[in-house]
Amino acid sequence: MLRFSESVSSDRRLAVFDIQGSQVHAAMLARAGLISRRDRAAIHAGLERIRREIEAGRFRWRASLEDVHMNIEHALTRRVPAAARLHAGRSRNDQVAVDMRLFLRQACGVVRDRLRAAERTLLAVAAANRDVHIPGYTHLQRAQPVPLAHHVLAWLEMLERDRQRLAEVADHANWCPLGSGALAGTTLPIDREFAAKALGFVDARGRPRLTQNSMDAVADRDVCIEFAAACALVGVHGSRIASDLILWVSAEFGFVRLPDAFCTGSSLMPQKKNPDACELVRGKAARLQGNLQTLLSLVRSLPLTYNRDLQEDKPPVFDSFDQTNLCLEVLAGMLAGLKVNRKRCAAAVADPALFATDLADYLVGRGVAFREAHQAVGAAVRLAEDQGVPLDRLTLAQVRSVHRAFGPGWTDVFDLRRSMAKRRGSGMPGPGQIRRQLRRWRRILGGR
Ligand code: ARG
Repeated sequence: MLRFSESVSSDRRLAVFDIQGSQVHAAMLARAGLISRRDRAAIHAGLERIRREIEAGRFRWRASLEDVHMNIEHALTRRVPAAARLHAGRSRNDQVAVDMRLFLRQACGVVRDRLRAAERTLLAVAAANRDVHIPGYTHLQRAQPVPLAHHVLAWLEMLERDRQRLAEVADHANWCPLGSGALAGTTLPIDREFAAKALGFVDARGRPRLTQNSMDAVADRDVCIEFAAACALVGVHGSRIASDLILWVSAEFGFVRLPDAFCTGSSLMPQKKNPDACELVRGKAARLQGNLQTLLSLVRSLPLTYNRDLQEDKPPVFDSFDQTNLCLEVLAGMLAGLKVNRKRCAAAVADPALFATDLADYLVGRGVAFREAHQAVGAAVRLAEDQGVPLDRLTLAQVRSVHRAFGPGWTDVFDLRRSMAKRRGSGMPGPGQIRRQLRRWRRILGGR
């Protein structure tokens, strides 16, 4: 049972937050006249010593004391007998809720910083390759040409949404449950506002943010779930980026090369260079999804309020935090060393069939209904196939046999620069828009 019921092996990560919470709680008790100023000072100093011991790795954690809260309180009371008064007006139920909210508020900030670092790397890749074009794909079939930068900036959009989402999760974490007690508050005259302010649980104007129902406050794990969901989405986005890269490094595509440090060879086939880092990012995404599922399953159907099941919330939350950070660090490192093979990209984008839609637009410009234009270009594509020539090598007479609206300048549409220059609308891949987006991202992400 001892090994079964302990959580200290994982929740000791909350030690700094637990100490911070206890110091504020002691200060609040002193203000309320529930403990003396001397006791408060002794408790504070004792907790500082324990903090230093933990940081130095000298603190002895004991599974028999179950969790981080009991370990710290026990060690403190041995040194400072007055610490026996510390737990007044508080329960481990609101204590653990406070600790997790403090942890998650900080964790969101850490993941956001890593996201920003990865986003800056993407911005650098986009800026360095703005004159490179590749085919854009739908159904994994070559569709229309796009600047490589447009594709990379699409990844950037995904990660920026994650960064915003995590700011919202941090905001949701920013409510103080201290004072909820086990589930029904306390009969002691505590000062919740003071504790909330001291722990930084305040709104933009510095007013304390207090949870408004003591039962909900100790039963609620929404922020854990939201954090795991945000991390799972980072994982999903990372895995889509990884899949693009895995395709791009293959001999079949050959658009880019990844730095050797992020690849491995095969133990059997000497010629192999495998994109392991990308594949691991994809694999970790499954794990991040699993953590979210664990947390949802943990909380669903639980009667209010606290149930010991909730102790199992920490491992998946910590794992999501760690693995998300690792994924982002690896993605950023890998992308920083990305080498673009301009020749292969140019060759891939040279197929005139990629301009079939431009050709339909050309006919629309000459008054043809789009559905009719679509059909006509389809017929021209088939004709070119039958003749064994690229689409742009059909003669004017041949395309006119397909549709009368084709005129002498019809092959102008096969010019890549011209095709791109026309895509002027917001969010489109034209060069003016790409420049605008690069400026926008520099503004958002700071730096160069
Ligand atoms: N180890 C517990 C957890 O992590 C702390 C809260 C214990 N509360 C209780 N009523 N047993 O959830």
